[in-house]
Parts: sequence; structure tokens; C-alpha cells
Amino acid sequence: MAIAERTLIVAQELGREIAPPKGKLGVMLVGLGAVSTTFIAGVENVRRGRALPIGSLSQMGTIRLGKRAEKRAPKIREFVPLAELGDLVFAAWDPIPDDAYTAAVKAGVLEGKHLEPIAPFLKGIQPLPAAFDQQYVKRLQGSNVKRGKTKRELAEQLRQDIREFKRASGADRLVIIWAASTEVFLQPGPTHQTLATFEKAMDQNDPAIAPSMLYAYAALMESVPFANGAPNLTVDIPALECLADERGVPIGGKDFKTGQTMMKTVLAPAFKARMLGLSGWYSTNILGNRDGEVLDDPESFKTKEESKLGVLEYILQPEMYPELYGNVFHKVRINYYPPRGDNKEGWDNIDIFGWLGYPMQIKVDFLCRDSILAAPIVLDLALMFDLARRAGMSGIQEWLSFYFKSPQTAPGLYPEHDLFIQQTKLKNTLRWMMGEEQITHLGIEYYEKA
Ligand SMILES: NC(=O)c1ccc[n+]([C@@H]2O[C@H](COP(=O)([O-])OP(=O)(O)OC[C@H]3O[C@@H](n4cnc5c(N)ncnc54)[C@H](O)[C@@H]3O)[C@@H](O)[C@H]2O)c1
Repeated sequence: MAIAERTLIVAQELGREIAPPKGKLGVMLVGLGAVSTTFIAGVENVRRGRALPIGSLSQMGTIRLGKRAEKRAPKIREFVPLAELGDLVFAAWDPIPDDAYTAAVKAGVLEGKHLEPIAPFLKGIQPLPAAFDQQYVKRLQGSNVKRGKTKRELAEQLRQDIREFKRASGADRLVIIWAASTEVFLQPGPTHQTLATFEKAMDQNDPAIAPSMLYAYAALMESVPFANGAPNLTVDIPALECLADERGVPIGGKDFKTGQTMMKTVLAPAFKARMLGLSGWYSTNILGNRDGEVLDDPESFKTKEESKLGVLEYILQPEMYPELYGNVFHKVRINYYPPRGDNKEGWDNIDIFGWLGYPMQIKVDFLCRDSILAAPIVLDLALMFDLARRAGMSGIQEWLSFYFKSPQTAPGLYPEHDLFIQQTKLKNTLRWMMGEEQITHLGIEYYEKA
């Protein structure tokens, strides 16, 4: 049965309406660097049948429905009405004028076998001029930038870009994902509190308004979902959260959870589950891509560091377990080391202690590929944010915390970092959307059978 038909039936039977994913979905990427080009080229390879979308839960994952004995476990993409890969169209902004092919070659992530056959397609994606200011990304220079007297003018130009792409591509719906460089560290201040103060600050070129916020504002004003893949504040401020709620648009962030932090949010819950203590966790990275170069600037690194450091505190709850986690030394370093390119090496030295306090060590050496891990996350976020929009869900999408290092939460709530709690929340939200029973793994079915 076609997805559109099934959606209609679900809506009729359960009264929960999800508009069908008809027509094209336009994915607008802020930044056309390593992650964005690996994502776009990957989707094109997959839809030409030349590779598999490995790492994408939406494409490869299944979802159990009902009792275990029912043996119902469809693919997620066959269960929920997601946009088809064939319906995706792309656009990007970047201050560097390289088209997607040139940018992908420079990024050095994908090999010729995944780039050359699709070179004309990639060359057709030319970056739109960016709302860019070197004050916020010190190590970058770019010529492909917008000009305007005020930040508000730049935001209006971005809105114009969004409308124009929608018209020219014939897209039915859009999503925008920030996959651009990490900006310098900013803290929420008075200008970020209300839409009025935010708009006034744009008019006055207030330094508290970073370029990423202009994209987020433009997206929301155009009713387009916005997801933030970097640790910048961006849409994580009250003014834009309220705007998203008012306009009924889903938002989320921050910072794609890919290599080292993904491992951390798997290992730390395991220690806690077994009540093993932790005295220290030293994480260091070497990477040589442009992201590494940008993060070599202390102000951009500070933004990343905050995002990477938060996870242990929330998972381990030292206030509840002071003997086990009350005195953890946690350090994160990122070192720019050009010979490695995009192939990052993330080392972790973990000092734990067990029965009667005896110390033990764990060493993790993750020889990963940053953009290979990030690209499927971009795909899933694009599809899930579009789904959320069609399901009438607005504001912060906490159920998509699974994809983020420092998930945005409703005011006053702490973020959930444990990867498997996040996964359960995501899948239960999909079940809820489709009118299926939520699964708690309590094993009730066993007792029922007995
Ligand atoms: N790869 C991963 O595993 C991973 C994980 C988490 C977060 N991230 C974040 O994703 C982002 C992208 O990573 P990448 O490896 O593709 O970096 P990259 O340096 O290859 O690409 C970023 C691009 O953004 C552009 N850019 C900078 N400011 C911009 C602006 N104001 N408007 C439009 N474009 C702008 C840059 O010119 C560059 O081309 C980074 O912030 C990175 O920290 C990546």
C-alpha cells in the first residue's frame, strides 16, 4: 500500500493526522563543507542504487510493534510516512564559493568512485551567498557573502533565498539544517529573551546575534523546520523557541552526536547501571579537516567543549551517587593535526573503580571518519523534522535527542543523554504518532502468557 494511502487510513482510524509526504522535500544546508557534501553525495549514490545508507536509522532500522509474540517489526521507513530519498532536492549556503563537487573533493572524505559518476549532479549545487561574519568563525575567510547594513537585512535576504529555492525547485516542503562551522562561544543574554528584543538587536547589529541565529530566524519566519548540527546557541534561545511555538514549526539541536560522544553516552550508562565508580575520563581527538582548523581557535573550541563536557554530569547524576561520581576529573581536548584529514582519532582513557574501590582502566581508540558518521544523521534529521512538521508537532523536538550531543529541552528540564533511552523515546514517539502501543520492555507479555 502506498505511504500516502496508509497515512490517510491511519488518520481516519485513529484521528491522528499526518499529512502525506507528497511532492519534493527541499533540504537547505547551511554550510557546504565535509558533512553536507558527504550527505548529499551519499543520498545520490543510494538513490542510484550504488551504495547503502548505512548508519541511517530511518533507512536501515526496524521498529517492533505490539507484543514480542506478534513478530511485527517493519522497517521504520515502511511504518511512518517519511519522504522518499528520490524526492529530496538540495540547496546550500557557504561563504566559500565552491560547488558541491569541488567542496567534496577538497573535503577528501569520499573516494572518486562515489564522486565521479555523480559529478554533474554535484556541480549543479552552487552555494548561495552566506550570512557570514568572521568575528564568529575566526579561522575562516570567504568571498561568497551577503552584504547588508543591518543583521535584519541579512535575515530578510535569507528569507528571500528560502522562498526562491522553494519556487525554483518546486519543493512542496523545506527543512533547514545547520552543518556550518562552529561559531565562537555565546551565552544567552537579555537580547535573546523575546522576539521584540531579538529583532531590535538585529536592527542595531548587536554582537549577541550570531549569523547562525539569522538563519534560524529566517527559517522560522518562513515556517521551515530548523535543526542545528553544531554546538552554537543558534535556536536554543527563548526568543526563537517562542517563535517556533507560535508559528507551529519544529526546531532542535545541538551538535550532531557522532564519534567520541556517542561512545561516551553508551559507556557511561553501562558503568552507572552496574554501579561502578568513575574517577576520571580523559578524551582527546586529533583531526585535520576544516572543522578541526576552526576548532583550533580557542573561542570556537569553547563552544564545542561545553557541548562535549555536559553529557557525563547528566548521565551519572553525582548529586545522587556522591561516592561513585562525586569526584570525576573530565577533560576533553581537540587537536588540529592536518595529516589525518577527516579521519579523526578519538582516544579515551577512562579510570573506573569497582568492589571495595579497586581501580581499573578502559582505553578506547576510535579511528573514525567524522563525516561518514555525521551524514546519516543529517539524512534522518531532515526526514524526521519533515515528519514532525506534517504531524503538526512544533517547538523543541526532544524525541530527536538521539541525534544530538547537547539536546535542547523545554525550559527547566534536564537533557536525556543515554543513547538507549533516547532511542526508546524516539521509537515510542513514532509508535504514538501511528497509534501503536508504546513499548516499555517490562515483560508483561510473559506474565500474561503464564
Ligand atoms: N562531522 C562530525 O562528526 C560532526 C559532529 C558534530 C558536529 N559537527 C559540526 O558540523 C559542522 C560541519 O562540519 P564539517 O566537518 O562539514 O565542517 P567544514 O568546515 O567542512 O564545513 C563547514 C562549512 O560551513 C561554512 N560556513 C561557516 N560559516 C558559515 C555561515 N555563516 N553560513 C554558511 N556557511 C558557513 C564553511 O565555509 C564550511 O564550508 C561543524 O560545526 C562541526 O563542528 C560535525
